[in-house]
Order: sequence, then C-alpha cells, then structure tokens
Amino acid sequence: MTNEQIIQNAIDYITKLFETNSGGHDAAHTLRVYRNACLLAEAEGAKDTLVIALAALLHDVDDYKLFATENLANARAFLRENEISEEMTEQICTVIEGVSFHTHKKPDSLAGMIVQDADRLDAIGAVGIGRTFAFGGEHGRSMESSIQHFYDKLLLLKDLLNTDAARAIAQRRHAFMETFLAEWYEEIGEM
Ligand code: ADP
Ligand code: NI
Repeated sequence: MTNEQIIQNAIDYITKLFETNSGGHDAAHTLRVYRNACLLAEAEGAKDTLVIALAALLHDVDDYKLFATENLANARAFLRENEISEEMTEQICTVIEGVSFHTHKKPDSLAGMIVQDADRLDAIGAVGIGRTFAFGGEHGRSMESSIQHFYDKLLLLKDLLNTDAARAIAQRRHAFMETFLAEWYEEIGEM
C-alpha cells in the first residue's frame, strides 16, 4: 500500500467513525487538524510525514469523551489493518497521547509538537469560537459559560505552542478572539 492509500483509508475511517458526532468534535475538526499538521510539517521541514499525517487523522478516535476504548484501541486497530509497523505504531500512539491539553507537557518529538500545535490551532480563531459555543450548547451551558472558556483555555493557547510556524498562524487567530470579546462586551454593555 502506498502512503497516499493509507492516508485515504484513514480519512475514510474517521469520516465513518465521526458520522454521528456533531459540533466541535466531528470529522471536519479532524480534517482541519490534518491540514494544519501538513502545513506545519512543511514549514518546519519535518521528515516523518506519515507519522504526522496518521497521528493527526487518528488523534480523536479514542477520545474518552466520545469513545469508551482503552489503550488507543481504535487507532491501533486501524494501524494494524493497514500494516503499519510496530515501531511506527508506537511513534504514532505517543504523538496521539501528547495531543491532549490536559497533559500540559511539551512532546519530545517534532512530530508530537506539530500535531499538538495543529489541534490547538483549531481551538482558537473563528473556528475556535464556533466550536466553543457548539460545545457549550451541546452540554446545556450558557453563553456566559462559553465566554469563561476563553479565559480558562483559548486565550492561553498561543503561549503554549511549540513551533514558530504555529505561532505565526496563531497571531491572527488570537487577535480575532480579542476583537470578538471586545465586541461582545460592547454589545452587552460591559467594558
Ligand atoms: P480537542 O481535544 O479536539 O482539542 P476538546 O475536547 O478539548 O477538543 O474540546 C472540543 C471543543 O470544545 C474545543 O474547541 C474546546 O475549546 C471546546 N470546549 C471544551 N471545553 C469547553 C467548555 N467547558 N466550554 C466551552 N467550550 C469548551
Ligand atoms: Ni482534536
């Protein structure tokens, strides 16, 4: 199988898996993270592009909020099915485990840093704003509680990025969130 075929299989796999999910955690999120990861890999001159591509595409397939799997069982099943070597499987799984905001740890490989940055870029900017309110609505939260999430997480992300390429993309997205918040307070009459 060529790398292109494996990547296409991964796209098909996540499209099916996320069919029933909506809002912030759908196939479109995964595809944006994959696209961001490809851009960052190119800009940073990363070598292990297949590891980066597959880790990006599989980064949410074992998210505990959506799937009750253990030890990245969905990701591992896909990788086994597509005859990815054990060594590469472990590299990909390490990258996936490093993606979570909660781990708060800088990944020790460039591939890990790139996929973590790619996921974080999708949490900020216009798309990040949309995802936050979609998530809030899905969980029965008020708009005010979604606004609080900007201070708890979204506005902190730009300083947690690993790569220069991601920091460059984040600048504009961060500024847009600040503009959004300024408009929000303007409209509700609090400055
Ligand atoms: P991912 O792991 O794909 O980065 P998360 O599972 O952390 O995403 O969250 C999905 C989306 O929902 C993100 O855009 C995130 O900012 C948003 N979100 C997470 N927690 C909250 C919250 N408490 N209130 C509003 N939005 C949230
Ligand atoms: Ni994600």
